[in-house]
Amino acid sequence: MKARDVVLVDGIRTAFGRAGEKGFFWYTRADDMVVKVIRELLRRNPQVKPEMIEENVWGATTQEKDQGLTLGRTSAILAGLPVDCSGFSVDRMCAGGMTAVTCAASEIALGACDIAIAGGVEHMGHHPMGATADPNPRFLTERIVSEDALVMGKTAENLHDEFPEITKEMSDEYAYWSQKKAAKAYEEGKIQKTIVPMTVYTKEGWVVADYDQQLRPDTTLEGLRNLRTPFRPLGKVTPGNASGLNDGAAGVLLMSAEKAEQLGIQPKMRLVAYAYAGVRPEVMGLGPVPATKKVLEKAGLTINDIDIIELNEAFAVQCLVFMKEFGFKMPNDERINPWGGAIALGHPLASSGPRLMIHMMHLFEENPSARYGLTTMCVGLGQGGAVIWENLMRK
Ligand SMILES: CC(C)(COP(=O)(O)OP(=O)(O)OC[C@H]1O[C@@H](n2cnc3c(N)ncnc32)[C@H](O)[C@@H]1OP(=O)(O)O)[C@@H](O)C(=O)NCCC(=O)NCCS
Repeated sequence: MKARDVVLVDGIRTAFGRAGEKGFFWYTRADDMVVKVIRELLRRNPQVKPEMIEENVWGATTQEKDQGLTLGRTSAILAGLPVDCSGFSVDRMCAGGMTAVTCAASEIALGACDIAIAGGVEHMGHHPMGATADPNPRFLTERIVSEDALVMGKTAENLHDEFPEITKEMSDEYAYWSQKKAAKAYEEGKIQKTIVPMTVYTKEGWVVADYDQQLRPDTTLEGLRNLRTPFRPLGKVTPGNASGLNDGAAGVLLMSAEKAEQLGIQPKMRLVAYAYAGVRPEVMGLGPVPATKKVLEKAGLTINDIDIIELNEAFAVQCLVFMKEFGFKMPNDERINPWGGAIALGHPLASSGPRLMIHMMHLFEENPSARYGLTTMCVGLGQGGAVIWENLMRK
């Protein structure tokens, strides 16, 4: 069987709210956020009739309550997709949505379906990280992993230990740039294009959630320097140089290149190759390094062929390690996260993979000379995911 080309036609996300009672999604269900994204993808792409969607794949880290009952199926029914559209859910923690996209793309590539919706959601307010998890005690009693491996902020402190040349000052500077780049992209109206406003009920009444609630455009290096280090006394990881706790959903519309041509649709980008790789759980932030090496090899490319990189910012230190390993200018390189990243925008775990892809789609449009882009992210318990895309709007 010969693999077919898979293209990304469109992508959209909800705003990313602050998790918890002060967040604008506190009274909103996660599956309703998914439905909003699916409906918006259909609204924006009228050539694609609901009955043409054959598969609906969603990632979420906690798969229970409003994120349970096989989201891929429940959200298809709730969004009014035809009854014969199948759906399923996946979990690869932070890379849940990325995995949903690569699963759906693989189905399309092998001819199992022609058109699919895939995405990720995480309502970290309703589902605090790890709250209902029950890790096998053997992990700790038999010292299969250290206790640190289960607390992401501690794994980031461990990375600082392994790479002492990456200082706290560098992590703070990285975070500063993330905030400034996001603030500039917001000022220029760029990020607004990636968000579908959603009217939601809050303690203050009905409001429109149409911006990322965690943004701190006034961030200064001075302000970052003095923040507490919640993961280790006198540590290096702070609330300022880490991603936050957020609620959000993001999804994309995928189809075979043939189908796009048949429908007269100009696709935004082609999936060139993808790869996942494992690393030691205690330093999970290393994940994007081997995943990127693997995907570059599969694509027959080098890092120098990649014009734009969307690197998920779980922690600044983990991005700096990536930059160091591939020889980027630290702490800020114009090829990486030109519109800022998760430190500024938020990181509702499984939704971040598709969020990176949505940024890539717009960045390709903004940079018609760019050919290849990389979306990559680290994953709890030690994994990395990486997807290479080709710009189909290239001039
Ligand atoms: C780091 C973490 C514990 C902080 O949680 P929090 O205390 O609720 O965070 P807050 O947003 O309230 O910030 C804490 C303080 O830092 C300050 N702060 C945060 N970012 C700042 C910035 N850029 N500039 C100045 N101050 C900042 C806040 O104002 C707040 O100050 P206050 O306590 O005086 O109100 C939490 O965000 C976390 O666990 N992040 C990691 C998430 C994660 O592991 N994801 C998975 C990745 S694999």
